[in-house]
Amino acid sequence: MNFNLNFFKKMKSFQLANESSPLSLTPQFILPEHKRPHLSEVTSLDSIPIIDLSYIDENPCSSLEVAHKISKACEEFGFFQIVNHGVPEQICNKMMKAIDDLFELPAEQRDILFSTDHAKNIKLVNYYLQVEGGEKVKMWSECFSHPWYPIHDVIQLLPENFGAQYREAFTEYAKEIDALVRRLLSLLSIGLGLEDDYLLKKLGEQPRLRAQANFYPPCPDPELTLGLLDHTDSNALTVLLQSQVSGLQVNKDGKWISVPSIPNAFVINLADQIQVLSNGRYKSVNHRVVTNKARSRVSMAMFYGPNPDTIIGPIQELIDEEHPPRYRNYRFSEFLEEFFNQQGTRRMIKEVFELPFNQAV
Ligand code: OGA
Ligand code: NI
Repeated sequence: MNFNLNFFKKMKSFQLANESSPLSLTPQFILPEHKRPHLSEVTSLDSIPIIDLSYIDENPCSSLEVAHKISKACEEFGFFQIVNHGVPEQICNKMMKAIDDLFELPAEQRDILFSTDHAKNIKLVNYYLQVEGGEKVKMWSECFSHPWYPIHDVIQLLPENFGAQYREAFTEYAKEIDALVRRLLSLLSIGLGLEDDYLLKKLGEQPRLRAQANFYPPCPDPELTLGLLDHTDSNALTVLLQSQVSGLQVNKDGKWISVPSIPNAFVINLADQIQVLSNGRYKSVNHRVVTNKARSRVSMAMFYGPNPDTIIGPIQELIDEEHPPRYRNYRFSEFLEEFFNQQGTRRMIKEVFELPFNQAV
């Protein structure tokens, strides 16, 4: 009963920050035909890769086997889910509850965090697509973006009046995800045939760590909108925690596949920097979020990226005559600049750094 009331309340009254009236499906949210989700064409696959990490704890010498499974998933999909990952369920639940509560706050209270300035370190964002003619179509979501490290920045930046529960949940959560990412980077390094600390070292000290808590309210017509437009993540590796409500879809060979929400699992997305480092062997997965009529959805994306001063390019050990470099070297800050320049348009960022076929660096 409680749940139903809550749900009804959310459906009736969600208001985006910086808007003067409750969210409704006005033309400013309606995507042009070719950008709509075409939900009847979406498939579900039995073979979405799920990797059980407890296997390693029980048989330490099985790291290689797990690394190979991950490697295969990264080559085929650029994404996988992990279960038995060691992050306590209660820490994840606390994080999700804190996000839920944050988006239940009245819009007037969230307004202070709203910003369209990409340089702002902590902000509530309503993403958009810039369509021909310069108009903006808004996404059916609100996202809270902030640093993940150093943790005291997050704590200081969150407004006093409402962040207590979020601060506490995030501090615990970030510590766990940090350890998990190190484990995953080590398995990915092994899978690429490199020393197990290769990727961690390569991404540099003081990596660029960002977190994004996403909220997707129910939508009266999910055929006309998207929660997040199709994109690849621009960092190196993303750890995503999603609520029981599904909505995430990944693209494989041009087809959209829905990603089931599995209890106590994380979705791991390979992002652009690993695609470049692996010289295209691992794919940065193209993904999007669809809306649904009945229930709101929350997720937490933890983005692990290189230090902005780090030089990124195909790893020398992975280049030979048969595998000439497909990207030029660049400083990660250059990539970020390109990313911000392309804001709101179709994202084709790593393509800017591609080398013409077979050209040496
Ligand atoms: C993202 C993202 C997916 C989700 O935040 O970049 O892709 O399921 N989120 O919310
Ligand atoms: Ni993403």
